[in-house]
Amino acid sequence: MKVIIVAAMTADGFIGNSTNHRSTAWTNKEDRYLFTHLVKDANNMVMGLTTFMTIAQAAPGVFNKTMPGRRLLVYTHNPDKVSGYQNVEAVNEDPATLVKQLESEGVKTLAVCGGSQIYTAFMRTNLVNELYIDMQATLFGRGVPLFNEPLTNKITLHDSKPLGPNNILLHYTVN
Ligand SMILES: NC(=O)c1ccc[n+]([C@@H]2O[C@H](COP(=O)([O-])OP(=O)(O)OC[C@H]3O[C@@H](n4cnc5c(N)ncnc54)[C@H](OP(=O)(O)O)[C@@H]3O)[C@@H](O)[C@H]2O)c1
Repeated sequence: MKVIIVAAMTADGFIGNSTNHRSTAWTNKEDRYLFTHLVKDANNMVMGLTTFMTIAQAAPGVFNKTMPGRRLLVYTHNPDKVSGYQNVEAVNEDPATLVKQLESEGVKTLAVCGGSQIYTAFMRTNLVNELYIDMQATLFGRGVPLFNEPLTNKITLHDSKPLGPNNILLHYTVN
């Protein structure tokens, strides 16, 4: 099974200016196109409760509308917080256990969709195979970093391409 990280990042390394900053509020349409297509290909996505809430509170039902049939797993210690949403499953297993379980269910690709806590937890399992980082021509100066704990993973730039006038997609493989 392949595990990919999909993130939009500022040129100075942040994924949000604060914990509750919704990423669709500052990323451009090329990023949303990329995100939808990468996740559509994966068909299975995982994110943390904070990220989920930034999006769900602004646009309830957006995941069902833009990605019908996709499986969305949300990390939370409080499953009640997501029980009102369709096609959302609360999870709290460590990432290695979750990946093993999904693999046994026949899942081919899992898209890890943030935020910082969840990107970091998956990266630290050494189970992530690829990173797709859409670097936007934006600066926050401070905010939520892509990762929030020390990492030792080695990565290699697989390819890079401009997505639009103001962003570049960096595609890395994790060695
Ligand atoms: N630019 C991008 O591409 C992008 C993508 C995604 C997110 N973001 C940004 O990232 C920021 C949020 O990131 P974040 O790191 O603060 O939060 P997060 O990773 O989205 O979610 C953290 C929450 O997930 C739950 N959680 C984490 N580990 C868990 C575990 N082992 N078991 C059960 N639940 C667990 C906890 O919720 P409970 O309180 O329920 O325990 C925790 O508070 C926002 O600014 C968002 O916009 C940006």
